[in-house]
Amino acid sequence: MRRLQKLSYFALALLVLASSVLIAQAQPPVTVYKLRNAHGVEAQITNYGGILMSLKVPDRNGKFDDVVLGFNTPEDYMKKNDPYFGAIIGRYGNRIAKGRFKLNGVEYKLAVNNGENHLHGGIKGFDKVVWTGRETRTKDGPAVVLTYLSKDGEEGYPGNLRVTVVYRLTNNNELRIDYSATTDKDTVLNLTHHSYFNFLGEGNGDILNHQVKIDADEFVPTDAGSIPLGTLSKVVGTPFDFLKSTAIGARINDDNEQLKLGNGYDHTFVIRGRAGTLRHAASVYEPTTGRTMEVFTTEPGMQLYTGNFLNGTLTGKSGKPYPRRSGFCLETQHYPDSPNQPSFPTTTLRKGAAYHSTTIYKFGYQK
Ligand code: GLA
Repeated sequence: MRRLQKLSYFALALLVLASSVLIAQAQPPVTVYKLRNAHGVEAQITNYGGILMSLKVPDRNGKFDDVVLGFNTPEDYMKKNDPYFGAIIGRYGNRIAKGRFKLNGVEYKLAVNNGENHLHGGIKGFDKVVWTGRETRTKDGPAVVLTYLSKDGEEGYPGNLRVTVVYRLTNNNELRIDYSATTDKDTVLNLTHHSYFNFLGEGNGDILNHQVKIDADEFVPTDAGSIPLGTLSKVVGTPFDFLKSTAIGARINDDNEQLKLGNGYDHTFVIRGRAGTLRHAASVYEPTTGRTMEVFTTEPGMQLYTGNFLNGTLTGKSGKPYPRRSGFCLETQHYPDSPNQPSFPTTTLRKGAAYHSTTIYKFGYQK
């Protein structure tokens, strides 16, 4: 009997060892893909977190600069506990109140990693996992295809979720991101991309002089924990009115409750037009370099985040620190906390249904 028990312990230990070797092997190696389009625009993307590590675009004099914040190697991103620089965010971009939601009558408890709330997919979100990557050529330009299987229960979410993200650098100077996913159980999903842009070049000061236009008549007001109040506010007559191109810094320190709660802009704008159709969402213009960016998306909303939590402790690619407001994000997404907000567009992904989302960042310059 004792021998039998010993033998079965031995067999169990062998099984554990074999499966951990298999799991270790299943993780693909970390790679950096370099895409270059017909105009010399260059993007570097790693399969660690699906991070856009660098993006070199010309200014009005034809000078190329790297316009996204970040580090030089994937290992730096692993070590430095950075604020999601350039990463793919999932399963849920933005916050879910108290990390809880109900679906089909069942309450799910998610990892809580932002005060009492769940942020950007939890403790180990899609920004911190190794994706399977493959470089490919499309008729529009070079691309990287990233896939990831998020297992049932990961960070508390239901369903085995298969996700594909395609980054394409088109010959129209667009960075096009196509997201798709399927699940084997009903779940919630809200994928986005978290690049911090600075058209002066990363590390070259703050972004307050960048002029931004956002196609939004309304935004999502939040509480002190950045959780939506459940209503939408009109932008008209407030510092959230970007219907006419306005410098980010023009009103950022105004005496406005929402700006104070957000430490600056950290809010979702409700993009005009029909969600699900690819439409213009925002334009950016930087006057010294002439660099421009147009954003198009199929998502209902877009978060403008003005790097309010950067504080100069992180040093970037060219050895320069990243102080407060030295980058801005335009994260195309559903509204925060949608799983708990019945009046918001739904983020439920049903078993067997196909999730699709597209965002385009198109770069240019004005003379
Ligand atoms: C998002 C959030 C911000 C902040 C950053 C990361 O954009 O909305 O509040 O958490 O990510 O620092």
